[in-house]
Amino acid sequence: MNDASMIKILLLIGCVVVVNILLFWRQNVDMSENRNDLEAQVLSLQRKRDYLLLKNADLERQIHRMELKLEHIETQVRDFSQARQDRKNLPQIFFITPTKFRAEQKADLTRLGQTLAHIPNLFWIIVEDADEPSEMPTKLLERLKFTSSVHIVARTPPEIRRNESDPNWKFPRGVAQRNAALEYLRTNHRSFKKSVVYFGDDDNVYDWRIFDEMRRIEKVGVWPVGIVGGTIVETPILAPNGTTVINFTSIWKPERPFPIDMAAFAVNLALIVENPTAEFSNHVPRGYQESHFLESLGLKRSDLEPKADFCTKIYVWHTRTENTKLLKRDRQRLQNPESLNLIEKDAIL
Ligand SMILES: *[C@@H]1O[C@H](CO)[C@@H](O)[C@H](O)[C@H]1NC(C)=O
Ligand SMILES: *[C@@H]1O[C@H](CO)[C@@H](O)[C@H](O)[C@H]1NC(C)=O
Ligand SMILES: *[C@@H]1O[C@H](CO)[C@@H](O)[C@H](O)[C@H]1NC(C)=O
Repeated sequence: MNDASMIKILLLIGCVVVVNILLFWRQNVDMSENRNDLEAQVLSLQRKRDYLLLKNADLERQIHRMELKLEHIETQVRDFSQARQDRKNLPQIFFITPTKFRAEQKADLTRLGQTLAHIPNLFWIIVEDADEPSEMPTKLLERLKFTSSVHIVARTPPEIRRNESDPNWKFPRGVAQRNAALEYLRTNHRSFKKSVVYFGDDDNVYDWRIFDEMRRIEKVGVWPVGIVGGTIVETPILAPNGTTVINFTSIWKPERPFPIDMAAFAVNLALIVENPTAEFSNHVPRGYQESHFLESLGLKRSDLEPKADFCTKIYVWHTRTENTKLLKRDRQRLQNPESLNLIEKDAIL
């Protein structure tokens, strides 16, 4: 071999070496890039894992909270159906309301209905002084979703009808209506022996607690009434042992057998069924309706069962709706409701 070939070979070898070195270097660069990529991916996956772990812990906490809530709701549902069951077993209250068309009637019945709608096991008997039931009370009963109610009519005889212009007018109100309700009860509800009957005018104010008081009555329960008979309170007076009524605070006609207001008592339905002739009367002196009715049930003062925390609480007020002073124009149009416009009709019909 000569020198020239030697040099060529050496050059060739040199080239190969250089190419190899270049290839190796290139590979190395690629690999380190790959490694950086991989490391970045590992880091990102670690971050994702940490995030998911946190999220998982959070979800587990949420699940725990949901389970607690569910338990709570299940308890509430159980309590609620128990309460519904208890409510069903409460003695029924028959609430008798005589009512008559006037400008304030819808307002009064709406207020009363919205009180009564909250009372469990209450049967509302609306007795209208009319020949035909009017639409308004029926619509009210529907709107307030009364399932236990009836709307009947009983016309006050013309010779007894209130004479608005006579200041000494003496016939009592509501007699025909209350008697019609008693008849209705005797005909349709004879078997509800545990029930009580209460006469609730449409313009009084009733605390819900009066209804808890009246459910537990053997014969006749009695309690104080607020703002009645010209006094702030009329109440039975109890013997020191708290079980017996010995007198009353009434100023007006205290000699009455029962000097109490219509709103001051409730009686057991059984008494009404067992005394079929017991009723109210147009032919007793003023203020004697309550006494006449209670005596016709065969009751004596000693039968009175004091309620409302030994007659120390007021759960009913004998409020009265003022006779609204309408303009002559509107007074006349009230007599002919067809003459009213739509919004006026909505106010009173
Ligand atoms: C109403 O009472 C007044 C005054 O007492 C009397 O003049 C009038 O005739 C009575 N009206 C009726 C319809 O009875
Ligand atoms: C409570 O007192 C009245 C009057 O003093 C009495 O007539 C009555 O029997 C007493 N009742 C009880 C349960 O002691
Ligand atoms: C009962 O109360 C009336 C009026 O408050 C009173 O005049 C009368 O003396 C009382 N009767 C008894 C027996 O206490």
